[in-house]
Amino acid sequence: MSDVIGAATFRTPAEAYDRHIGRYGRELARALTTAAAVRPGGRALDVGCGPGALTSELVALLGAERVAAVDPSAPFADACRRRLPGVRVEVASAEALPFAAAAFDHALAQLVVNFMTAPPAGVRELRRVTRRGGTVAAAVWDYAGEMTLLRRFWDAAIALDPTAASRDEGRCMPFCTPDELADLWSQAGLADVGVADAVVSAGYEDFEDLWQPLELGVAPSGAYATSLPPEERAALKEELRRRLGVGDPDRPFELNARAWVVTGRVV
Ligand SMILES: C[S@@+](CC[C@H](N)C(=O)[O-])C[C@H]1O[C@@H](n2cnc3c(N)ncnc32)[C@H](O)[C@@H]1O
Repeated sequence: MSDVIGAATFRTPAEAYDRHIGRYGRELARALTTAAAVRPGGRALDVGCGPGALTSELVALLGAERVAAVDPSAPFADACRRRLPGVRVEVASAEALPFAAAAFDHALAQLVVNFMTAPPAGVRELRRVTRRGGTVAAAVWDYAGEMTLLRRFWDAAIALDPTAASRDEGRCMPFCTPDELADLWSQAGLADVGVADAVVSAGYEDFEDLWQPLELGVAPSGAYATSLPPEERAALKEELRRRLGVGDPDRPFELNARAWVVTGRVV
């Protein structure tokens, strides 16, 4: 995957991510930990932790000493370590996890599988570090459908610049449909594979609150917005506002986002 649509777009300050996709993170983490049946007393690994949305939900459920996290982005791993003292946080990728076999009851990845360099190898690693009977689970956005913010963003971008289609996450992200995810999990040797949807929401104070994080270049959407010269960027901002149906840009509003949640058991 190229730098403009891949993992490189997350080597940005954690605060930029918090204000963009991070707004949806904690609610999605609750859906993911529920689907994975994470319970007090278990040990869990958060793979691709980012600044720590899922990690903090795991800490609330299990306690910091029973949670570990990894991310290949050093600024995100640092932010996660700072925010959640006591959690072991390493700079590492899913494809090479620095943990012994069967070290955890659960290995989870929230909004990460589609950014992995080698998703089949990454999911096999999640399985390796999870004990027999434990769960491996992940959530990915429904980029092509009901992840409202990103869907409207790319629709607006393509309407103004058809070449943006090559960066549309709904078209170029792998493993973002229920069938693809179920196959990925089954081929990694996981049993009782299931995929369900989770719809979460985020509130915005006004349209500027939604737009400003994109100006910081975070994630593939922010990387695209900041690649545009000022006039085209302003046109994209206006087209996005129109497509989101935000009539008065100064009023608060809320957006929904659908993710697919895949689960499997280690046998
Ligand atoms: C959309 S963010 C999700 C962050 C966090 N899990 C959350 O829900 O807020 C994607 C994350 O995947 C990480 N990532 C990219 N490639 C990865 C890989 N091969 N293995 C693990 N994490 C990866 C990025 O650095 C980034 O933190």
